[in-house]
Parts: sequence; C-alpha cells; structure tokens
Amino acid sequence: MEILKFKNNDEMPILGLGTWKSKPGEIYTAVRQAIQIGYRHFDCAAIYGNELEIGKAFTDAFKQGDIIRKDIWVTSKLWNNAHARDQVLPALKKTLTDLCLEYLDLYLVHWPVALKTGVVYPGTGSDLVSLADLPLADTWAGMEACFDQGLSNHIGVSNFSIKKLAGLVETAKIKPEMNQIELHPFLQQPEMLTYCRKKNILLTAYSPLGSGDRPAHLKSETEQILLENPNIQQMAQKKGCSAAQILIKWAIDRHTAVIPKSVNPIRLAENFKATQVELNPDEMTAILALDMATRYVRGAIWTPPGSAYTPETLWDESYRIVNGF
Ligand code: A2P
Repeated sequence: MEILKFKNNDEMPILGLGTWKSKPGEIYTAVRQAIQIGYRHFDCAAIYGNELEIGKAFTDAFKQGDIIRKDIWVTSKLWNNAHARDQVLPALKKTLTDLCLEYLDLYLVHWPVALKTGVVYPGTGSDLVSLADLPLADTWAGMEACFDQGLSNHIGVSNFSIKKLAGLVETAKIKPEMNQIELHPFLQQPEMLTYCRKKNILLTAYSPLGSGDRPAHLKSETEQILLENPNIQQMAQKKGCSAAQILIKWAIDRHTAVIPKSVNPIRLAENFKATQVELNPDEMTAILALDMATRYVRGAIWTPPGSAYTPETLWDESYRIVNGF
C-alpha cells in the first residue's frame, strides 16, 4: 500500500475507508471486514453518528488480535458546534471515548463554519456564528492544544479554500498538515493541488465515487452520476476492472489520500484492490478532460437566508465552481 508521509515521517495509508453515511447497524461489520481485507486507514467524524460502533469494531479487532492500535490510522473531525477554543479538547475527548482510542492519528476541523453551541444542524440563519465572532484562529488554537496534549498526532482541516488555508498557515503555531476536500474527476481542483504541494499540506479526496448514497436533499435532479460516466465505464471495461477502481486509482496517482465508503463486503474488497490497477498517461489525460468543476457537496446547508455565510464566503476563490450541476 502506498503511503502519504507527514513531516515527522508518520505514514498514512493512501487508501482509507470512508464512514460518512455508514449507519450504525452496518458499520461494525464493515469495519471488521475492512480490517480483514487489509484496510488500515479509517476516516471518521463525530457528526457521522457512528463512532461508538466503529469503536466497538476496533476494540474487538484488538481483542481478537487482528490488529494493534499502531497498525491503523484513524482520522476524526471536530463538529461545527464546538469551534470555541475551549470546546475543542472536550469534543476530541468525546470522540476518543466513542472510538475507544487513547489518541487519534489526525484530527480535522470539519468545516470552516461555526454553529451556536448545542445546534447540530442549522434550522435558520441565526443558528450560525460568523467567523468574525468566532475566528478560525481560535478554533485552531484549540486544535493545537489537542496536539500539545498528545491526543492527536496530527491536525488539519476539511472543506477549506486556499484563502482560508493561507490565513491559517500565516498565523498557526502548528501548521495544518491536511485538507480533506471533495475531489474526483468531475471536481479536480488543480489550483488547490498546486497550492498544497507548495505549502507541504497533504490532501484527502472525499466523495471519490460521487457519494451516490447522499440523502435526497443533498442531491440535484440534474446531477450526473460519476460511477456511470461513459468514459470511465469504457475505460474500466477495456482494462477489465470496475469504474470505482479507476476513480480510486486516479486519486492515488495524484498523490491524494482517498476514502471510498462502502459497507458491502464485495465492494470493500473491490475498492481495496484498486491499488493494483495501472492507469497509463493517456488514461490520466483522458480523465483530465472530464473536469467539470462541479461539486456534489455544496454546503448549501450553511447558507440559508440570514446566515453569516454565503456560497462566496464559504468557498472563496472556488465559489464559481458550479454547485450541484
Ligand atoms: P455501498 O456502501 O453499498 O457499497 P463515496 O465514497 O463517494 O461517498 O461513495 C459511496 C457510495 O458508493 C455508496 O453508495 C457505496 O455503496 C457506493 N460504492 C462503494 N464502492 C462501490 C463500488 N465498488 N461500486 C459501486 N458503488 C460503490
């Protein structure tokens, strides 16, 4: 398995298991199966509502001798309602308790968006707190405290624009080492790749298969289905692999970590084997042409009427990226 190397030489397996949308009741078995298959990187978040069950799967895998803690890379994310500096550490401690772990490998600020304490998802614009009132630098100071206390070996962010990353890089005592963002052939974000390479920030590609299992309210009627793209399908057919494997290997060949979600044992194994697929330069060029600069995950939930956030202030330089086809 290829790895991404952090500044202190820690190694993150480039392919991980995504757990967004994996329901309690199915994620325990999926994690246990994934470990059997060989997955050693698990991408979690408090808001996914399944960390307790993932923790049980880890605990049982440790007990039964399938793995030891340091064999696996575990990422989790701070939810938007705990962005005040002194709320970050308690939020991480809750995640650690749920995951039955003593430390994380990587903790991320899930969104550059703050919610009032106690609000899980905004009902109205007044549930959001502006970045002027709760600056990302304050949240980051809380993240740095998590690192200082040895509760997360690395810290980073998710859904950050270049502008917001640059702001953080300038003021942070400990620089963010990761930005986890939506990346796939329809949303290739070349400027972000260039910026992060220059600043020694690693990238993780979320929704690499197009997240077809998003809830209906996060979907557009006109959106194109990534896994059904004819070019990807033809390429897969010609190579004797699956469309999902092409998408995963494409992300790996761009040196981004990639976290396809599955709770199906056959697809878990299929996705893991994507590392064996070889994409030649002509195939990489053909995929380059599929970029439509189009997001599936629009963040529209953060920009209701009266919100302190607009699509422009949420996505900054990339707000022109088409939302939802
Ligand atoms: P399932 O969990 O039933 O396998 P993303 O990683 O972009 O969020 O996409 C996740 C969606 O893709 C889920 O609906 C998942 O369903 C599905 N999926 C995962 N692996 C594959 C695969 N190899 N082929 C087709 N669909 C897949």
